[in-house]
Amino acid sequence: MRRSVAIFFLAQILIVSYLVHSCWTLITLLVVDGSNDAISRAELPGPNSGLSVHGKKHIIPKILHQTYANESIPAHWIEPQQSCIDLHPEWEYHLWTDKKAREFIAAEYPWFLETFDGYRFPIQRADAIRYFVLAHYGGVYIDLDDGCHRPLDPLLSYPAWVRRTLPTGISNDAMGAIPHHPFFLRVIDALPNYDRSWLLPYITVMASTGPLFLSVIWRHYNSDGPLEEERVRVLFPDEYSNHPWSFFTHHLGNSWHRGDVRLILWMGSHWIVLTIVGFVVGFAVIYGIWTLYGRIVHAKNTGRGLSLKRRLPFWSSQQEYELVERHEV
Ligand SMILES: *[C@@H]1O[C@H](CO)[C@@H](O)[C@H](O)[C@H]1NC(C)=O
Repeated sequence: MRRSVAIFFLAQILIVSYLVHSCWTLITLLVVDGSNDAISRAELPGPNSGLSVHGKKHIIPKILHQTYANESIPAHWIEPQQSCIDLHPEWEYHLWTDKKAREFIAAEYPWFLETFDGYRFPIQRADAIRYFVLAHYGGVYIDLDDGCHRPLDPLLSYPAWVRRTLPTGISNDAMGAIPHHPFFLRVIDALPNYDRSWLLPYITVMASTGPLFLSVIWRHYNSDGPLEEERVRVLFPDEYSNHPWSFFTHHLGNSWHRGDVRLILWMGSHWIVLTIVGFVVGFAVIYGIWTLYGRIVHAKNTGRGLSLKRRLPFWSSQQEYELVERHEV
């Protein structure tokens, strides 16, 4: 008996270790908040007092990238789009339509074209193209539903920056980089490997090209200890929006959200219940395996097969354990 218990727990420990190992990056994302790389409000100039971080040159090129299916941008996004164009009169402006995006990938990154064309959801192409243009040209990418609240020029002083999201990870809706920044090179290299399908479209998009994918690569990149000049700096929520000193204003968007997003949002707001249910299910599974395992050991020792009654774990378990005990010793 004692040996079978040991084997049982060893198997459980192996399974749990494997799961923890596979999800390690995700688990660390819950505790790593990126504050070491924060772009602090103290180092930024006030909203009306200059365009450069003190003592630092602008290194990111003055290019604004945005994406949409075609040139006919929906009316509700014209205002945020125009606010960014108006605040950056000297900047180049690129709108990456589906057609331009595909031409660009075909011409410059033909190794990625098959993955690019193969994406099931258009938003995956919209995600991917922003990483490629940042890696290629450098500049600043902004989602169409983000308006600009003050000139972004101070952010041109960092080699690369992304935006922190709550409760965990980073987003891909506003980010900037110099051309060929090692983080974005790593991001584009990783895209084909992450092109996998998960059960729900929302999770598939998040994990293959979206913010979850970017957060995972960000974790890997940071845990390799990048050089000082290759760090990816992080814009925190207060510098992102809602304050007089923030850079952006957020407009309603999420044009690609589907039915399953409601499920995810529901799960987000019921996470305590779901965690408890998860533990109950987890223990039930362990208990089930344990009972089944006990039965098999018992059946082997007695030379009898599993009777119907014994296959139903719940009503005679006490007697069952005693039986197992007696035969094993
Ligand atoms: C542009 O794309 C949107 C979204 O896919 C679509 O609804 C619209 O019809 C397109 N407009 C033109 C002119 O093709």
